[in-house]
Amino acid sequence: MSTRSSINSPRNSLLLPSVLVILVGVTSALTYQSIIKPPPPKLCGSPGGPPITAPRIKLRDGRYLAYKEHGVPREKALRKVIFIHGSDCCRHDAVYATRLSPGLIEELGMYLVSFDRPGYGESDPDPNRTPKSLALDVEELADQLNLGAKFYVIGYSMGGQATWGCLKYIPHRLAGATLVAPVVNYWWKNLPLNVSTQGYSLQPKRDQWAVRVAHYAPWLMYWWNTQKWFPGSSVANRDGTSFSQQDKEIVLKLGASRKPHLAEVRPQGLHETINRDMIVGFGSWEFDPIELEDPFLNDHQGSVHMWQGDDDMLVPVIPQRYIAEKLPWLHYHEVPGSGHFFHYNEGVVDDIVKTLFKTETEN
Ligand SMILES: *[C@@H]1O[C@H](CO)[C@@H](O)[C@H](O)[C@H]1NC(C)=O
Repeated sequence: MSTRSSINSPRNSLLLPSVLVILVGVTSALTYQSIIKPPPPKLCGSPGGPPITAPRIKLRDGRYLAYKEHGVPREKALRKVIFIHGSDCCRHDAVYATRLSPGLIEELGMYLVSFDRPGYGESDPDPNRTPKSLALDVEELADQLNLGAKFYVIGYSMGGQATWGCLKYIPHRLAGATLVAPVVNYWWKNLPLNVSTQGYSLQPKRDQWAVRVAHYAPWLMYWWNTQKWFPGSSVANRDGTSFSQQDKEIVLKLGASRKPHLAEVRPQGLHETINRDMIVGFGSWEFDPIELEDPFLNDHQGSVHMWQGDDDMLVPVIPQRYIAEKLPWLHYHEVPGSGHFFHYNEGVVDDIVKTLFKTETEN
């Protein structure tokens, strides 16, 4: 009652201050919006946007997906693989083809197609991206390239979200699957609190915060990773100071040859690449790996592998051990003394690929 009477009372002297307050409020809201709201992605092939140089397929929702083929021609291939890259990488970073020992590709009769995940390189962004939509993108790529009823998938790091998605949504299409240091979502509901907390605290502080923002305040992600007041995500800022010892040595040794196409990774901007990865990777999932079933339960015609370094500062080992323990059908390979980039070490990609192609009885 008292509020109502004060509103109704004629107090014209307050009118000017109120208008000022509203003006200031609206102005700061607009400024704030332009800081926290990501700029629209620069679509490839749009006026002023980056050029289209790669072959692309058109997906179910009109988006284009850029890809790159490696190895023996697909008509002659005995084994067809789809490679799903990690954060801040693109279709060129297909180490499971490009770093194999000479002759191995022919010996294995292997064809590998890598693609720019949505928003990366020359693939259109997908603001509605989920682990499921990524799995469906993989399936559509396979079908448009006529890879046949079954194909292998290898997913690295943030590409793990799509690989777990493939195991969940398109298991019947898989000939086998390998996850290499796949992203862990600390909010997967079947991860015990002590396991996710220990894993979470292994990360550098800046990444702990960035992961929290991705989960609880995805609308703040763009600002978080672009502001200069405090450190945002280490991946978004390309900061390697908290890499493990072995990772630092690998980065030093390989230099720019580790990612020769770095300039082609984010031509469309930060938000639909790194930030979207984090928002999807650490968001709320409708399933988690621990509830997955063995995709080869009935026919034993394939196998699923996880490779993980025990000194990885980006994707911690503790939750992976727990997942591996809960999924008896998952072949778990822990690599001692290794960080996140161990697949650049001599012979590692050969091992990973050969292991994937072994039949279930040999594993
Ligand atoms: C989490 O807690 C359970 C039950 O107390 C224990 O058995 C397990 O070893 C703990 N895991 C870790 C990684 O600390």
